[in-house]
Amino acid sequence: MTKTADLLDSRTDPVLVWDQLKNLAPEELIQWRVAPLNTGQSAAQRNIDLPIPFGWFAICYSDELQTSEVKPFHYFDKELVAWRGEDGSARILDAYCPHLGAHMGYGGKVDGNHLQCPFHAWRWNGEGSAVEIPYSKSIPPKMRKPDCDRSYPTREVNGFVWAWYHPDNTEPLYEVQTFAEIGDPAWSDYEKHEWIVRGPIQTIAENGADSAHFQFIHGVANSPNYDITFDGHRRSAEVRAKMGTPRGLVDGTIAYGVDGSGQPWTRFSGICETLLITGVTPISKDLTHLRFAFTQLKSDRDGENGGVARAIIKDICKQLDQDKVVWDRQRYVEQPPLCAGDGPINDFRDFFRQFYAGSQWDKYRDSALKRSISR
Ligand code: FES
Ligand SMILES: [Fe+2]
Repeated sequence: MTKTADLLDSRTDPVLVWDQLKNLAPEELIQWRVAPLNTGQSAAQRNIDLPIPFGWFAICYSDELQTSEVKPFHYFDKELVAWRGEDGSARILDAYCPHLGAHMGYGGKVDGNHLQCPFHAWRWNGEGSAVEIPYSKSIPPKMRKPDCDRSYPTREVNGFVWAWYHPDNTEPLYEVQTFAEIGDPAWSDYEKHEWIVRGPIQTIAENGADSAHFQFIHGVANSPNYDITFDGHRRSAEVRAKMGTPRGLVDGTIAYGVDGSGQPWTRFSGICETLLITGVTPISKDLTHLRFAFTQLKSDRDGENGGVARAIIKDICKQLDQDKVVWDRQRYVEQPPLCAGDGPINDFRDFFRQFYAGSQWDKYRDSALKRSISR
């Protein structure tokens, strides 16, 4: 068994935020990760008003939506319903039925590949068109048309169901990247972990560009040195770093990339081959669902490297716990007074802005300007 003390061996003194977490029993820590924190501070008091960005977002794992199953979700500040038709495809609509407003996530039923509303049994396809009304031969013409305001382009890749969200209902602007490791028999099934953070997705994404925090929040001996490449909808970096293992410090490589606003992935190599697929999904403007899905080369995970393999995952999750203590309470600083060593935070923000729809960004800028004048 790997002891917690062993996992700290690459670290400087325990970081201060650890005081918030060190006394939690393992089950309490799991609950703490997903219980949205309520400090009594509103989003407005924390200056959090950034729009919800567009992109592909994880709605659930593929194995959480079985054939003929219907499930409610709440993401993008909307009530959603997802179902899997008999053809095996997942579909996602706004949950409220256009007929008389029933929530189709509660009592909705799959009929073939369609979703049957619980209230009057109208049947809907994945494009949001009414295809059948059991007690009437006439379907209102408007209801027969596909409705892009209510339907979400869906992909099923890397063991997740992804929905494309765009506030103006623009068609997907890029595709979900696939990874050969997922589903390869030489790689393990996912080890899954999750968090709910009381903060906007941009702040969470900014963490990778915030070089100085690694030392103080995560206790790493030195701030990692790396260059982030910003390229279209993707940003990526390769970091050579000393990684803490039960056997002490080992040279490792961490390659990470983020597609769009919500699809980070990270490859750790050198000690134990590990791929982390992350789903970062906005629940609302100030609440974000994070999922970590790890796969490791089975020969590493099940062999004599097994302790190291588990330690890597535990360590990465611990780093997220440490960040969450800050994120849950952080105020959004619109124009931070940055200094040398802070990392490319402004470059990151310029890059991330592309994921805010123009209309929403203009509205946000207007109200941010008013807030700064009234201060
Ligand atoms: S409210 Fe859905 S069918 Fe009537
Ligand atoms: Fe961090």
